[in-house]
Amino acid sequence: MQPQKAWNRSWVRRPMGIALVLLLLINVIVFLASAQQPEGQLTGNWAVKTPNADGTFRTTYLNLKQDGAKIRGSIRVTQFYYLITEGTAGPDGFTLTGSMLDGKTARTVKYEVKLAGEELHVSTRRRPEDKPTVMIARRVPPGEGALPARLELPVLHKVPDNALARTPPMGWNSWNKFASRVDDATVRGIADAMAGNGMKEAGYRYINIDDTWEAGRDAQGNIQTNKKFPNMKALADYVHSKGLKLGIYSSPGPNTCAGYEGTYGHEEQDARTYAAWGIDYLKYDWCGARTLYTDEEMPAVYQKMGDALRAQKQPIVYSLCQYGRLDVWKWGADVGGNLWRTTGDIRDTWDSMTRIGFGQNDLAPWAKPGHWNDPDMLEIGNGGMSEDEYKTHMSLWAILAAPLLAGNDLRSMSPGILGILTNREVIAVNQDKDGKQGSRVWKSGDQEIWSRPLANRATALAIFNRAKDPAKVTVRWTELNLTGKHLRDLWGHQDIPWPGPEYSVMVPAHGVVMLRVSK
Ligand code: GLA
Repeated sequence: MQPQKAWNRSWVRRPMGIALVLLLLINVIVFLASAQQPEGQLTGNWAVKTPNADGTFRTTYLNLKQDGAKIRGSIRVTQFYYLITEGTAGPDGFTLTGSMLDGKTARTVKYEVKLAGEELHVSTRRRPEDKPTVMIARRVPPGEGALPARLELPVLHKVPDNALARTPPMGWNSWNKFASRVDDATVRGIADAMAGNGMKEAGYRYINIDDTWEAGRDAQGNIQTNKKFPNMKALADYVHSKGLKLGIYSSPGPNTCAGYEGTYGHEEQDARTYAAWGIDYLKYDWCGARTLYTDEEMPAVYQKMGDALRAQKQPIVYSLCQYGRLDVWKWGADVGGNLWRTTGDIRDTWDSMTRIGFGQNDLAPWAKPGHWNDPDMLEIGNGGMSEDEYKTHMSLWAILAAPLLAGNDLRSMSPGILGILTNREVIAVNQDKDGKQGSRVWKSGDQEIWSRPLANRATALAIFNRAKDPAKVTVRWTELNLTGKHLRDLWGHQDIPWPGPEYSVMVPAHGVVMLRVSK
């Protein structure tokens, strides 16, 4: 056993020796590296300006104070503002770690920076396994990109109801399909399509421009449009000439989610501008406000714009977008909101749509005429789901009394998709004048029945099959506390003779059967 032990020990000692030499070497390299970047050389305000296609820039600011081998300061990336918590010299420049609190969530970023003449080479990766994105920062005057001072917030009061959105808003929004590619021509084309393809007759009204229309502000602080939107007033006139309405987007923070100019400190001024342009709807997205305010301050922040919109002669629907934080359904109406997002962003997948849609069960009591839960815009027609899945999407949003904001390219959709979006019988459920949101009344494995009370003592039922195979579902009226005489299939567009105490039906995989039960 002895030789074995000796063998072991020598191999234990050898790595320790190697480690010691390595440590020494790293120290020497670090020393040399910090000596190569003399004290304070990185100190200054640096900016990476990446041009957007619309004449604006996405800017990342690095405000650095170098003290030997240490760096302090801040990093501002579009809507995020991080304090550098660790800035240490390595063999090849510095590694900066920034962190910020976003509501209850801590966010961190990591950047590698290296001085190269007059430039600061900055690299970062989304995930450790990704290839780094390398950017070049240049010096900008001190103060540029600094976070504005925190403005005091108003005392809470109840914003008077604006009498709009008595039924859930219907229309279109640019984000899901076009994101930053939306422009004047697209919006006009969408308005033409909506006015000509039957959607307008089916109840769709609002054409909503989401993020990326903004440029900076003029000398008087008036918000400017970027070159994708040469004349917002003319665009509103055009949309109005089609009998439709125009919506716009902003953030209560200094920046929007995509890093564009926000409304911060210009609430009344922007509300006046929107009114002067003829804007009929505002989606107001928390994003940049997270750098200045806590979640608990959201009601006061949103009330500020609620008051500003209410002060305009032009009626403007007010859509709150803060992803359902701080139980927005409990206070959204009080700050003037007509609708409030209840979740994070939807994606065009079965998983995302069903996670959001079937997750809304507890929120039914908070919806009422003028004030709606918003589980996010429709993905119908964007290509990531089957027609049966999109029917499930449409039916669920109808049962939920959710806003119906199409998110696809209305200029080029298939007749099947248009048929889903314009199913009048399903829309009638969504737009029911009593404005009561439905909820789950039965569940067995992957099959669920959701029910929504309608005007005139009628009821809408949606029988969902979340399984990958078709399934037979039996509805027993007494189990659902329902009595009725008339039964109608809202996707089949036909009356069903009253079937007696129960009704059995095959529901397609990931599909739905939607019924109207009336006395
Ligand atoms: C957030 C919102 C989205 C969209 C984008 C725009 O993510 O939740 O609906 O408005 O911002 O940047």
